[in-house]
Amino acid sequence: MNSEVYKQALAEILKNDNIFLYWKGRVALYAILKAMGVGSGDEVILPGFTCVVVPNAIKYLDAKPIYVDVKKKPMNPDTSQYQDAITPKTKVIITQNTFGLSYQVDEIAELARKKGIYSVEDCTHGFGGTYKGKPNGSYCDAAFFSTQWNKPFSTGIGGFASVNNQDLIPGLKTVNKKLIRPTMKDKMVLSALLFAHDHILTASNYWKLRSMYRFLSKHNLVIGSSQGEELTGVKMPKNYLKDISEVQIKKGTENLASFRELMMRRRENGKIYTQFLSAHNKYHVDPIYHQDHCFLKYPVLVRDRQKFEELAFNAKIELGDWFCTPLYPVEKDWKIWDLDENQIPNALYLSRHIVNLPTETQDPGRVIKFAEKHLHEFI
Ligand SMILES: Cc1ncc(COP(=O)(O)O)c(C=O)c1O
Repeated sequence: MNSEVYKQALAEILKNDNIFLYWKGRVALYAILKAMGVGSGDEVILPGFTCVVVPNAIKYLDAKPIYVDVKKKPMNPDTSQYQDAITPKTKVIITQNTFGLSYQVDEIAELARKKGIYSVEDCTHGFGGTYKGKPNGSYCDAAFFSTQWNKPFSTGIGGFASVNNQDLIPGLKTVNKKLIRPTMKDKMVLSALLFAHDHILTASNYWKLRSMYRFLSKHNLVIGSSQGEELTGVKMPKNYLKDISEVQIKKGTENLASFRELMMRRRENGKIYTQFLSAHNKYHVDPIYHQDHCFLKYPVLVRDRQKFEELAFNAKIELGDWFCTPLYPVEKDWKIWDLDENQIPNALYLSRHIVNLPTETQDPGRVIKFAEKHLHEFI
């Protein structure tokens, strides 16, 4: 399968021809930051409610992550919070499309331009959505995307960068020359996982397979989303800087063909959940924040997550726990990533109460029935 065909399909959706493919989305972020010249002593501002691989990419470049707290809605910082965090050492601002929701991206990109620093949009949850009429990823100097499991469309693991600021392209090409090729084992394991995902995963074995996959990937026994040393330290793992494989290119090209249908379903289900939760005065994403978004997952808050997960497990509801920690999925020792939890009270609150309703489901009525039955558990 030709990588140019895949890139072209992505370029059409993103309305941007400058696409660079990688083994994972985090590698795309690292490559972008490197091309921006981020290095020792530089500061990179980011939301304190993210995935640990984002500060990892910053730390691997010997720069310092500076976290800003999020608003409880829409789970992102606003422009003034970024502005307050800027110092003479700031090199980049990262804004994040959380669960498919971007927030003030145009203003944040403009703030960065005015201050003479770079902006990056973490679009790992947001491929296919739009913000103020333009595809997600259009406003900042560069954006990066993920095609990992459960992302807008999946290649098992995978990612890419889209670059708006042409000046960054030579730097990215230089970084890309250092990418290592995926091994035969990488490709075989990924193919087997993709097969299992497509043919074995069902609503009834979702919970069992999810915990098995997490256990195996945490211990580096299968290719995982975040593995071993990425969750315990800030030293770049060997083989991190990896190129995309043919397996991912083939899967990506195939899955893009049915992507629109899935996106529309996610959008519709997001609306259904919003209507239900707002009608019952429960925490929900206000329509003003999600008119153009595709809701990768639908975030809700519950009083007692453990109890709620047990209820969902028994009812065979495919509940997610994304961002159940501010540096997901690391549960403690956030100081290793320079995060002081006292600076992020809202992110801490959200991470203690969040669960995610499935948006890819063909049967949202089943989820609503479950939610209705356990309405008192919702905040
Ligand atoms: C907010 C955020 N940023 C970055 C990433 C990294 O993407 P990838 O797993 O493709 O490296 C993730 C992963 O899920 C994420 O949730």
